[in-house]
Order: sequence, then structure tokens, then C-alpha cells
Amino acid sequence: MSAVVVIGAQWGDEGKGKLVDVFASHADTVVRFQGGSNAGHTLVVNGQKTVLHLIPSGILHSDKTCVIASGVVIDVLGLAEEIRKLKLTGLPLTASQLLIADNATVLLPYHKALDQAREKALSEGKIGTTGKGIGPAYEDRASRRALIMSDLFDSNNLLEKIEFAIKEKNVLLKNLYDAPELSAKEVLEQIKPAIEVLREYRLTDVSLFVSQKLKNNKKLLFEGAQGTLLDINHGTYPFVTSSSTLAGSGSISAGLGPHHLSKIVGVFKAYCTRVGSGPFPSELKDEIGAQIQKEGHEFGSTTGRARRCGWLDLVALKYAIRLNGINSLAMMKLDVLSSLDKVGVVTAYKLNGEIINEFPTSTELVGQLEPVVEFIPGWKEDLTKVKTLGDLPVKATAYINFVQKQLGTPIDIISVGPDREQTLWVKPLYKD
Ligand code: GDP
Ligand code: IMO
Ligand code: MG
Repeated sequence: MSAVVVIGAQWGDEGKGKLVDVFASHADTVVRFQGGSNAGHTLVVNGQKTVLHLIPSGILHSDKTCVIASGVVIDVLGLAEEIRKLKLTGLPLTASQLLIADNATVLLPYHKALDQAREKALSEGKIGTTGKGIGPAYEDRASRRALIMSDLFDSNNLLEKIEFAIKEKNVLLKNLYDAPELSAKEVLEQIKPAIEVLREYRLTDVSLFVSQKLKNNKKLLFEGAQGTLLDINHGTYPFVTSSSTLAGSGSISAGLGPHHLSKIVGVFKAYCTRVGSGPFPSELKDEIGAQIQKEGHEFGSTTGRARRCGWLDLVALKYAIRLNGINSLAMMKLDVLSSLDKVGVVTAYKLNGEIINEFPTSTELVGQLEPVVEFIPGWKEDLTKVKTLGDLPVKATAYINFVQKQLGTPIDIISVGPDREQTLWVKPLYKD
């Protein structure tokens, strides 16, 4: 088995970053395949925290190659800043450690301006975006006016390309949103120092690179961002992000046939969170939700916003298993539930008095669902120092077994704390 894909199986922030960092020690190359700096992936090693937005979560392993693939929208200023900050922590971040797809989409300040202006203008229907310009950058790609990474280093045509892309944005900013226009020349001046930082890194034909790795029997690890229910096609549209967050999108972004992605790891929290607007059937708007938020430190790594919290939703998780082809699950943050007397799990929904067992594709219907909650006794013991599966309290094991049985998919990883070490392996990663 050569390619493992890690994706979020809920609404993002499941703990993908931690897991990719843990898995990276068993892989050769880590490929981030979609999204942009809307992502915030947190790694904790010996108590030291690193938050990554665009750089793949394998970067703390200096012997691994990290690749940003073509499906990512690259915030030029953000990436240069991320590199600068990581270097300050003492990481070498050499050119052989970080490769960037030559055909990845460039995200520039006017994308952020438009994203923020649109959100400001919406009141009721606000999506609650991260304001990082993700939607407008993917729009530019689809409308074929985006700059790609290789354009940044073609100084003869760069200004002209920015001028072409900025023209429409300025019409919208000025006339529709009453927001300041941006000047192409100023944008160019603003990004020049960032381009110099990025010049150090090799623009790469990622498809060729990863396929050669596979030929040489090297192990690939794909890192998704956001989560299944934020997917542009299958999520709770329009309260979604602007890329495909599903495992299959890894194949397209890296330019590698889908049959190479043989292990699909779905990462989920032992409960559920969502940040931003949109329906969330298992949401707890009571003191239990507040307790989970507090115990789980549920505040966004990118925007600092409080995350909405709720019970684990098995119907939504089964939908994620189906959409991605998840054949391995990782349950994160089990330790956060330790203070509860009983732990709820959503096993079905009710809609107009009828029981619903499948996650509806209509977002309007999702907003009308009432959760059917089953309760499992809590274990009321600290899990953060548990080192082996056998040391888990019997009631915590009963919770894991209940969830696994309901899902019919193996839970191969249990995470009991943010640190790399606080990880219990049920099954090795690259063996079957
Ligand atoms: P990502 O976007 O999926 O990478 O997740 P985030 O990094 O945005 O959010 C997950 C948060 O939970 C981070 O603060 C992690 O350090 C933390 N975390 C990850 N796994 C665990 C765990 O098992 N227990 C606890 N208590 N925290 C965890
Ligand atoms: P990671 O990779 C959680 C949410 C935003 C908003 C919606 C659209 O850390 O799990 P966007 O800025 O993408 O246009 O916002 O998607 N969102 C995330 N929620 N985790 C993320 O990333 C997210 N990235 C975007 O809150 O609801
Ligand atoms: Mg996150």
C-alpha cells in the first residue's frame, strides 16, 4: 500500500494536522491537496504548538518532503509569512523540504478584499467564511483569469496579469460593495518581497514527482483540509468552502490515478464542531455544549472564532464514509469527554415525525432535522496519560466499540490529547 489519504469527516478541525504529523514519520512525502489559508492545522510536539495553514503537516520531520499540490489556492503573502515564522522557530525549511506545484492557483489581496466585502454585505445569509479569499480565488481559477505559481516568476508579464484579474474585482468592490478599489501596481509592490521568499522553493510538476515516488516504492501521505460536510458539491451548500474536500480530490489535485489512493483515513472528533454558519443537527446550545467547548478549547486556529459544539453524529459520519470511501477511521479528542456523566451519540434523525437514517442532500432539510440521541455512560477518568488501548477505562472502550459497530468501519487510531505522543494505534498505517 503506497498512498494514504487523510481527510476531515465532519465540519473541519477534526485533528487532521495532528494525525498527519503522527503519520508522517511512516511516510516519505506529504501532499497537501486543496483549500488554502482558511485551514488551521495544529501540531503539538513535546508541548510545543505549531499552527500551519498552507504548509503540509509533515514539515516538522526534516527528512520528509512536503508538497503543495495544484488544487491548493496559495496566498502568496500568507505562505511567505508562514515560512518566515517557521524558520524563526529553528526549522531549516530547505528547498528540498518544500515543493510547490508550478500550476497551483495564486491567491492575492484582492481575493481577500472581495471575500470580506461580500460577507460584510450579507446579513442573514452570511456564510461565515474565514475571510481568506478562498471563494474568489477558486472563482478566478474556474473563470480562467487566475495567476498560477509560475506566473509569479515571469516578471515581464506579471503586472499585466494582475491588472487583468483585478479589473473585474474593482468594479464589484467599488460599485456593488462600496469598498476601496485596489491598484495592480500596489499589489505587485506588496507581494514582491514574498515572491523573493518563495523563489527559494522549487516549482514542481507534482504529478511527475509523486508518480516517480510511487515507482520507487515510496510512501505517499495526502493531507486534506476542511471537512466532508464543507465540500463544495456534497456539503451543506451554500454553507461550505469553495473546494472539493473529499479524498477523491487528492487524486485530481496531485495528478495521480484514483486507484493509487488505497487507504482513506477519515478523521473525526469523538463529538462534533462547526465554525461559521449553516445547519448542524447535533448542535448543543446548552451548558453541555459550552462544557465541551471549554474542555476541548474549541476556538478556531485560523480566526479564533468559537466553534459550535454538539454530540457525535453517526448519520453524518456514515455519509462521510460513503462520500470518501473511508476504510479506516481515527477518533480524536476522546479525552475531552471525560468530564461528562453520559455521552450522547446521534443515531438517526426525525423529520416531521418520521425517522431518517440518511443525511439529506438538501440543506434546507438538514436544517429541519431533530436528532435522535442515544446515551452511553461516561467514564469520568482522565485519558490524557493513557499509553495503550488496554489501559483505557472499560466505559471508554465501550463508547469506542459502540461507535465502531454503528459505523461498520474500523477505528484504527484513538487520540487522547493534542500531543504527538498521545496517540493509541489499533492498527499500523501502511500495512493491511
Ligand atoms: P485540523 O484543522 O483538523 O488540523 O484541526 P485543528 O488543529 O484546527 O483543531 C484541532 C484541535 O484539537 C487542535 O488544537 C489540536 O491541538 C487539538 N487536538 C488534536 N487531537 C486532540 C486530542 O486527541 N485531544 C485534545 N484534547 N486535543 C486534540
Ligand atoms: P481546517 O482545515 C473549519 C469554514 C468557514 C466557513 C466555510 C467557508 O482547519 O479543518 P471559507 O473561508 O473556506 O470560504 O469559509 O468553511 N471553514 C472551516 N471550518 N475548519 C477549516 O479548515 C475551515 N476552512 C473553512 O468557517 O463556515
Ligand atoms: Mg483547523
